[in-house]
Amino acid sequence: MQKDANWWRHAVIYQIYPRSFADGNGDGMGDLKGVLERLESLKQLGVDAIWFSPFYKSPQKDAGYDVADYTDIDPLFGTLADFDAVLEKAHSLGIRVIIDLVPNHSSDQHPLFQAALKAGKGSPEREMYHFRDGKDANTPPNNWPSVFGGNAWTQIEDGQWYLHIFDSSQPDFNWDNPKVTEFFHGVLRFWFDRGVDGFRVDVAHSLVKAKGLPDLKVDPEEVGFDPSAQDYKDHPYWGQEGVHEVIRGFRSVANEYEDRALCAEAWVLPLSNMAKWVRPDEYHQSFNFGYLSTSWKAADLKKVIDDSLLEFGAVGAPSTWVLSNHDVIRHVTRMAYDEVPKQGDGIGPDYPQPDEARGQRVGRAATAFMLALPGSSYLYQGEELGLPEHTTLEAKFREDPTFFRTNGERVGRDGCRVPIPWEADKPAFGFNSTGKSWLPQPENYRRYARSAQEGIAGSTLELYRQLLKVRKQFNLGMGKLTWVEDLCDESTLAFDNSGVRVIANFAGTVALPAGELLATTQHDLTIEGVLEHDQVAWIRL
Ligand code: NOJ
Repeated sequence: MQKDANWWRHAVIYQIYPRSFADGNGDGMGDLKGVLERLESLKQLGVDAIWFSPFYKSPQKDAGYDVADYTDIDPLFGTLADFDAVLEKAHSLGIRVIIDLVPNHSSDQHPLFQAALKAGKGSPEREMYHFRDGKDANTPPNNWPSVFGGNAWTQIEDGQWYLHIFDSSQPDFNWDNPKVTEFFHGVLRFWFDRGVDGFRVDVAHSLVKAKGLPDLKVDPEEVGFDPSAQDYKDHPYWGQEGVHEVIRGFRSVANEYEDRALCAEAWVLPLSNMAKWVRPDEYHQSFNFGYLSTSWKAADLKKVIDDSLLEFGAVGAPSTWVLSNHDVIRHVTRMAYDEVPKQGDGIGPDYPQPDEARGQRVGRAATAFMLALPGSSYLYQGEELGLPEHTTLEAKFREDPTFFRTNGERVGRDGCRVPIPWEADKPAFGFNSTGKSWLPQPENYRRYARSAQEGIAGSTLELYRQLLKVRKQFNLGMGKLTWVEDLCDESTLAFDNSGVRVIANFAGTVALPAGELLATTQHDLTIEGVLEHDQVAWIRL
């Protein structure tokens, strides 16, 4: 792999959700062997890096975000040797590899938590986590809610309670304890020494809690994981000032190595606040969830892009751009609606079903627009196929703790986590050779299979390939965006980047300028033609 200290400034990073990418051993659960066999397809797609959601040893109570051993692979996914093989092959293909760090909480099966349970009240072992006595015998220490529903505290046999911002199987670490810092620096070095190129850091904004763990002053039900809730200035666990010291520690470990990068998953708003996370001695990148949450409306998009470039630019960081991941409704489905359920709540069979054609049209346009922006972009596995959310998944298959903790009221995130289709006519659409699948795939996934799109002009797969090829050719990731103000109004946006003019049309039709058509979402468009609504064209002037 060529050394390049700035690769993350412009990289297109493809998220692999190991459970659902490819299943090499046929047990119905994706694994590293499956990834190894399918890596070439990512080279053909043209991505620069992959990010793995967790594959560590885990009881899988939150699909692997409940880690029982940070330096080993769960047998579900393979072995450390399998990981080394993936890393080596990815590097030989010129693809960098970043992995997930889950530092806010461990699994309740982690030896450190098990030791804390055994050691008893007031012990140094309990100081690794947040154990407290209740307000009284039956009342938890404060009113914090779990993001997944219900209370954030669970009582144990000796009467004490432990804190879990997520599921009760995910106790929160106590980041005021230097031993926690030391432990995680060791984890970072373990994987950096193995050759990984970086980390995506899970719920990076919640590690530090306000001293004394004070009650929330707002209605706990309203808070959840919703980014708008971060506007509350004195929120006791989202975005505490003390977290920046933790970040600087991570960065100093990363700096012991050449060209490694850290990306924060931080649901903090406004953007000026998020930009603090990517100051030169903090994270390299932070997911731009403000962008993800912006709907397909010209004025809103223009504003969020301007704000992002301004705020991140002010601290010398590139912006990231992202539309889909394993926690949100896939964007081709989200964009089929005027309004969708709150992040994390998901869509089930009882919800009005999406207008598939609208979602495909707008979703493809949104991607074509995003991939021309300067900075780094994240893609979620399957979106290169235009894969929609599974919106009719039956309750009996659901695994997301959100579903169980809310008695099914919030169906949760399983719909975006369904195994992806490779070959239309194979068992489980080529996910494996046995036809097993940990979540059932809907019948419409056959149409979206890679084999049904490969070499087909105008298919979403060929569109993504073309966009990524042109993006690389013109080095758009490192470019500079200049709005073509004359062409920007409530129904059109246009910008120039590195000699490429990007035009997005939101309503009616728009004529194209003279030039060479480099890429477009509108199949069969020619430079003499007109751009229809919800279509995007990239033109070399
Ligand atoms: C954010 C992860 O992306 C999500 O999947 C997980 O449930 C929570 N953090 C808790 O780790």
